[in-house]
Amino acid sequence: KRTLGQLDVSGKAVLVRVDFNVPIEQGAGAIANYDQRLRATLPTIEYLLEQDCRVILCSHLGRPRGVFDGSLRMAPVGDRLAILLGQPVTSLSDCVGPAAHRHVASMSAGQVALLENLRFWPGEEANDAEFAGDLASLADCFVMDAFAVAHRAHASTVGIPRLLPSAMGLLTQREVESLGVALGQPERPMAALMGGAKVSDKILVLQNLLERLDHLFIGGGMAVTFLAATGNSVGASPVETDRLDFARDVLQRAAQNGITVHIPEDLVVASEFSGEPARTANVNADDVPDGWYIMDVGVRTADKFMRALAGCKTIIWNGPMGVFEMQRFSAGTRTVANGIAGLRGVTTVVGGGSTAEAVEALGLEAQMTHVSTGGGASLEFLEGRDLPGIAALPDA
Ligand code: 3PG
Repeated sequence: KRTLGQLDVSGKAVLVRVDFNVPIEQGAGAIANYDQRLRATLPTIEYLLEQDCRVILCSHLGRPRGVFDGSLRMAPVGDRLAILLGQPVTSLSDCVGPAAHRHVASMSAGQVALLENLRFWPGEEANDAEFAGDLASLADCFVMDAFAVAHRAHASTVGIPRLLPSAMGLLTQREVESLGVALGQPERPMAALMGGAKVSDKILVLQNLLERLDHLFIGGGMAVTFLAATGNSVGASPVETDRLDFARDVLQRAAQNGITVHIPEDLVVASEFSGEPARTANVNADDVPDGWYIMDVGVRTADKFMRALAGCKTIIWNGPMGVFEMQRFSAGTRTVANGIAGLRGVTTVVGGGSTAEAVEALGLEAQMTHVSTGGGASLEFLEGRDLPGIAALPDA
């Protein structure tokens, strides 16, 4: 696909689709301490400013479904961006129409504007051609840097590139190249470390990646179903009964293909599913007490996972090892995160969503090769699917 360097942007008005869909602290209108997505787009914005462009940013925030919602305005995000960028960012209260046009016409080279939340307009998610045309009419060319929403075929992701000279931005390029490592010719051994709540979220990724792997590590809520599939009792933890056959099939295919599967051999369990349970224990995986909940991988497992991961050359990590958001059950995730971050000469690619949040909360982002800004988009990419927002861009 055409890269930013291949697009003539010098001195132009450039419309940039970014994904600034960041958590907003309700009530306060302030953005929560999670601005990875903002920081990740700085290289593209700074590049355009160096090229004397007028930079017009557009994004969605939340799911207002085509109607105005005062708690989902872009302005607080614009304020945070201005701090990160070190220059003013004008947040507009429109994204199409005469006021937006007037503002863009008044901009000088090196200025930045942020349009109002695209999803206040029903045309965005409907991929309405007129809405895409109105957006496109604001600028001379278009840069797609919203990798995290590239799996949605909306007016701003697939409509605009049909209308303006377009390219992917530096973040999108980095995402495609880094996540693409797993699907191309990775340095081996290659490992996937999979966690998170449910097997069902990861089925297609597992199907696509499994036979490319040398090692598969399973933690998090997903491990419950794999433990149940291998005959362990899992206490009161919810088993995805409709995924047991899939889990057995993964284990069988792995065995046939010489892939080593690592399933927890010990676990942190709690007498109730709560951040402050009456009792917790570190037990063997075949010794989960009746009525108790699996909350994290055990100390021995985290340690063993890390020792095996240390021998790998490429690591794809998607999903926390336990209920990371509860401080008492974050140790497994912290151990592997710190361990992976400390490896040298290893390509470490972290999927977005809760895994990226964990890595960011631990301050380890800079030590990973790449931390994806995409949740759903990175999963669909690893599933091997074409993302519409990338497919819509012209070839190099
Ligand atoms: C995300 O946060 O995954 C993207 O911004 C896409 O948001 P959506 O799931 O509401 O389309």
